[in-house]
Amino acid sequence: MKIFITGTSGFIGFHLAKKLLEKGHSIYGYDSINTYYDLKLKKERNKILNKYKKYKFLKGNIENYNQLSKAVFKFKPKILIHLAAQAGVRYSIENPEIYLNSNILGTFNILKISDKIKVKHLIIGSSSSVYGANKKMPFREIDKTDNQISIYAATKKSTENLAHSYSSLWKLPVTILRFFTVYGPLGRPDMAYFKFTKKIVKKKKIEIYNKGKMYRDYTYIDDIVSGIISLINKAPNNNQIGKFKNDSLSHVAPFRILNIGNTKKVLLLEFIKTLEKEIGIKAKKKFLPMQKGDVLSTLSDTKLLQQITCYKTKTNYKLGIKKFVRWFKEFYS
Ligand SMILES: NC(=O)c1ccc[n+]([C@@H]2O[C@H](COP(=O)([O-])OP(=O)(O)OC[C@H]3O[C@@H](n4cnc5c(N)ncnc54)[C@H](O)[C@@H]3O)[C@@H](O)[C@H]2O)c1
Repeated sequence: MKIFITGTSGFIGFHLAKKLLEKGHSIYGYDSINTYYDLKLKKERNKILNKYKKYKFLKGNIENYNQLSKAVFKFKPKILIHLAAQAGVRYSIENPEIYLNSNILGTFNILKISDKIKVKHLIIGSSSSVYGANKKMPFREIDKTDNQISIYAATKKSTENLAHSYSSLWKLPVTILRFFTVYGPLGRPDMAYFKFTKKIVKKKKIEIYNKGKMYRDYTYIDDIVSGIISLINKAPNNNQIGKFKNDSLSHVAPFRILNIGNTKKVLLLEFIKTLEKEIGIKAKKKFLPMQKGDVLSTLSDTKLLQQITCYKTKTNYKLGIKKFVRWFKEFYS
């Protein structure tokens, strides 16, 4: 199958593309290779993907409609998986414009192009951050998501809305996936688990917000990849419109929103303890107040995804950290 993936130099896009290439699919990767974080990681990911014969790549911005559309029209993919985005909650406070351009304008281009070539299924990466500071746990797809507390989250919610209206107008089959704190080898150095590891190894102080009293539903990358792959051939269709009650299917469009997470919340201090154990060094800690834009807790309910794909995660956080630390030591040795 021909699959066009945006964000293949990024963490999730890379792992997804690699797995699909291993399965024999033809992949076209598109990424701006932006400098938001250490390019060494993006170069390494590109190097690995470029070894596959069935991998094509083009460097470019998704805001550049002409370049992006030419690439997609030429490749004629059946499936488009959109994972390119400006990620990160904290960076969005200082640099909101980048988020509006990459996440909103860029996703609008993806929707327009996907409709023009009538892809069988467009899958778009969204985020648990759209639940904002909701108190009711676990988060369900039908919960209210009107109160994002960061610019990043607000742009993610906007893309969900844009995608729904596009899907409704033109019957474009769209699945939105709300990811919950994805971590693992070749991961993102702007995320807490990665920053902590770097500092602990260098015996530098780690900065812990809200005294470590925060919870996250940490989801190992392989579980995310297998979840996405199990959905590729399961596009929402017109027959499902209005069929279910109280779920995330649209009642006017071939559109759905699905959580994808590990369904367990872990206390940040516990997570750090496991990191220390795996690294073999006790962390020096500096406790700071809660950061602007951060949420106290996340926890996914993934029943809807399970109904469609029998999705089950395999990696608990202790095993996931072990695998991450093993990779980290090798990569930075
Ligand atoms: N990793 C997580 O925990 C997590 C959690 C929730 C949601 N997400 C979402 O998952 C998707 C993938 O995230 P990731 O963790 O792999 O992030 P990442 O930053 O590693 O990857 C994103 C990639 O998109 C590229 N990119 C950014 N702006 C672009 C643009 N305008 N045009 C073309 N390419 C551009 C970047 O160069 C990068 O390689 C994103 O939509 C992100 O918002 C990730």
